[in-house]
Amino acid sequence: MKKNKISKNWINRQKKDIYVRQSKLEGFRSRAVYKLKEIDEKFKLTKSISTAIDLGAAPGSWSQYLSNKLKKGKILAIDILKIEPIKNIYFIQGDFTDEKYQNEIVNFFQNKVDLIVSDMAVNTTGNKNLDSIVTGDLCMNAMNFSLNHLSEKGVFLSKIFMGSSFNEIVATGKKSFKELKVFKPSSSRKESKESFIICKYLK
Ligand SMILES: C[S@@+](CC[C@H](N)C(=O)[O-])C[C@H]1O[C@@H](n2cnc3c(N)ncnc32)[C@H](O)[C@@H]1O
Repeated sequence: MKKNKISKNWINRQKKDIYVRQSKLEGFRSRAVYKLKEIDEKFKLTKSISTAIDLGAAPGSWSQYLSNKLKKGKILAIDILKIEPIKNIYFIQGDFTDEKYQNEIVNFFQNKVDLIVSDMAVNTTGNKNLDSIVTGDLCMNAMNFSLNHLSEKGVFLSKIFMGSSFNEIVATGKKSFKELKVFKPSSSRKESKESFIICKYLK
């Protein structure tokens, strides 16, 4: 399909999408917020927590959601892209996989963190295998960081693509966490290979 045809299809789909319309009405920056909301309602991620990290935060709907939920909490968000400021969110513009930024995150909290969420994904290339490998690497990187920096009762949530690295990520998660679930929220597009992995309580 030609590039301008793809973007026309994308615009038409956005217009019809109820989650896009609802996010505009409710003042969220992206329809992605409804994925986090549904996961939170089902798996109780934000119950009794006071610190959170949002990896791959732009344009910012997950951070908006966390900011609403953790009114007195300490929250940090990071993305390669800049985001417009959000109340009570400390934002870093940078590549999360770069050690320099991981150190900055650790210094900001000076302590273990209750919740780490990652919606990191690179722009899709159209090559589903390649996309799932790259997003898998981001998920693995976020999981490794979480293993070192989550509190004992901490929770890690990440986007994961069904593909070559899926089994390896799930196996690592099962080795390190007491509970692991894979879940596709209803707002996640059916045609997308995206799912979410929810890991609770370090072993
Ligand atoms: C699907 S969007 C996130 C949407 C966001 N959860 C929201 O609710 O607005 C994925 C984001 O991951 C970011 N990203 C990809 N690789 C990254 C990396 N290595 N470090 C930080 N952010 C990254 C992209 O720049 C993009 O903004």
